[in-house]
Amino acid sequence: VKFKVVRNNGSRENLILLLGLKNVFVKQLPNMPKPYVTRLVFDRKHESMALLKRTDRGEYIVMGGCCYRPFPSQGFAEIAFLAISHNEQVRGYGTRLMAHTKEHAKEIKLSYLLTCADNNAVPYFKKQGFSKKIQLPRELWQGYIKDYEGVTLMECKLHDKVNYLN
Ligand code: ACO
Repeated sequence: VKFKVVRNNGSRENLILLLGLKNVFVKQLPNMPKPYVTRLVFDRKHESMALLKRTDRGEYIVMGGCCYRPFPSQGFAEIAFLAISHNEQVRGYGTRLMAHTKEHAKEIKLSYLLTCADNNAVPYFKKQGFSKKIQLPRELWQGYIKDYEGVTLMECKLHDKVNYLN
C-alpha cells in the first residue's frame, strides 16, 4: 500500500483517484448526501490523503482516504470525510491514514486538525489523539466549520517535534 496526497489539479490520474475516493466515502458514509460528498472531494480547496493498494496488474486502487480543507491563514484543516473500505477495516489502516494526514498537515504548517465526527466515530478519533476540548480560539474556526446535529466537534493539536509516523 502507499499513501498519496491527491487534489483536483485537472490531471486524469488525480481525477481517477478522486473518483475512487468519492466512491469509498459514499459507501462508508451513507448518511452523507452523495452530491455533497462529490462536490467537496472534487472541490479545489479540498485535498485528500489517499490510501492506495497495488493490484496484481500493477495499478493502484483506492482503499480509503481522508478528505480535508486546509485553512492556512488560520493554521488548521477541517477533515470533511474519512473512511476505509469495509473489507480493509480494523487492520490498522485507519490509524496509519491519520498518521500520514497529520504529518502532511505539519508539512504545510498547520497546527490543528478539526473534524465534526459522526458520533459512532468518536472512539476512533479519540484513539487518534482527538479531543472534544477545542483549544483553537473560536474566532479562528467559527463560521468556517459546519457544526451540525448528530456530530461532535473534535480537535487534534499537532506537535512539531512529534513524528506521527514513528
Ligand atoms: N468496531 C470496533 N472497533 C473499531 C472499528 C469498528 N468498526 N473500527 C475501528 N475500530 C478500532 C480498532 O479496533 C482500533 O482499536 P485499537 O487501536 O485498540 O486496536 C482502532 O479503532 C483503529 O483501528 P484501525 O484498524 O486503525 O481503523 P480502521 O482501518 O478500521 O478505520 C474508520 C477506522 C476509518 C473509522 C473505519 O472504521 C471506517 O471507514 N468506518 C466507516 C466510516 C466512518 O465512520 N468514518 C468516520 C466518519 S466521521 C468523518 O468522516 C469526519
